[in-house]
Amino acid sequence: MNTKHDLLDKAFQTNHLTKEEITVLLETITPEEREILYSKALKTKQAYYGDKVYLRGLIEFSNICRQDCLYCGIRASNAKVERYRLTPGEILACCDKGYELGYRTFVLQSGEDLWYTDEMLSALVHEIKRRYYPEVAVTLSIGERSVETYQSLFVSGADRFLMRHETASQELYEKLHPTMRFEDRRACLAALKKIGYQVGAGFMVGLPGQTPADLAEDLHYLKELHPDMIGIGPFIPHSQTPLGTEKGGTIENTLVMVALARLLIPDSHIPATTALGTLHPQGREMALQAGANVVMPIITPSTVRKQYALYENKICGDDHPEDCRYCIERRIQSVGLKVDLGKGDSLQFISNM
Ligand code: 5AD
Repeated sequence: MNTKHDLLDKAFQTNHLTKEEITVLLETITPEEREILYSKALKTKQAYYGDKVYLRGLIEFSNICRQDCLYCGIRASNAKVERYRLTPGEILACCDKGYELGYRTFVLQSGEDLWYTDEMLSALVHEIKRRYYPEVAVTLSIGERSVETYQSLFVSGADRFLMRHETASQELYEKLHPTMRFEDRRACLAALKKIGYQVGAGFMVGLPGQTPADLAEDLHYLKELHPDMIGIGPFIPHSQTPLGTEKGGTIENTLVMVALARLLIPDSHIPATTALGTLHPQGREMALQAGANVVMPIITPSTVRKQYALYENKICGDDHPEDCRYCIERRIQSVGLKVDLGKGDSLQFISNM
């Protein structure tokens, strides 16, 4: 039997651990071993991406959603949310503001809101790409649509697509997503990759009923999918959902998963997520010191920000886009890293060009 120090060494040297090895680590890791893990993950991140941290401006353009995920504050059955939609004109105004602040990637995120037709989204993507040509990358995070839609949005200029797989456990996935199918999610991710998008997948940590073996499965699924970006955040209960009284994920477990993701899929981008920043005032800085290399500051207009509450107490609700821009820069510098305002393609994407 390997000691845990051997396992951490193996992960660092070979970028591989079996599911059993990951499970043992998750079940028994000590605070001292966690620090070793974080420092190995940081070293790996430095070797691949140096001390640059890429920024993406996040525009949460609609909180209307046809899905009913048990954990999510904007699920269709939550009648208490005040719903909003930004018009294409308002979204473009956010991009103008974001461009002024230096952002060169815009992430357009929303609930699954079919009010935005394929034609509207295609025209919007096309206009953003035209307006700032050739400097800007457009990332979509709009959930499940048909392969034909994904194809046409790609042709219109969308570069990247974020869609977390949420959990690699089929049983857990089905419990949490009464309106969705496990196979569909995976088929979407595979299709997006095949079309040529830089793809982001990822999962939540600390979901009710989630086991260490499930988390090991998440990492193995990601290693096989080999996405360009991996979003990992703690589950944070929202009181207006069926999981409102459950326990949430911990900062430690989430950071361990960030660090293991860095070791096992070393060339992927990994964001220091807003959910981590919500759980702990320095959560994002801690993630940057445990292998993360991307931050996604919010540029959603202050008038609607608070309504995009996937979970409660989300940070930056009262802030303006310029506050977030400079707050993030200070945080990145506080841990000895540097902001990079470039497009920030993934290494996998660059090496395939
Ligand atoms: N806690 C943490 N993360 C959540 N998400 C949705 N609801 C919650 C919650 N209650 C995450 C999902 C989704 C991403 C946009 O936000 O993983 O893919």
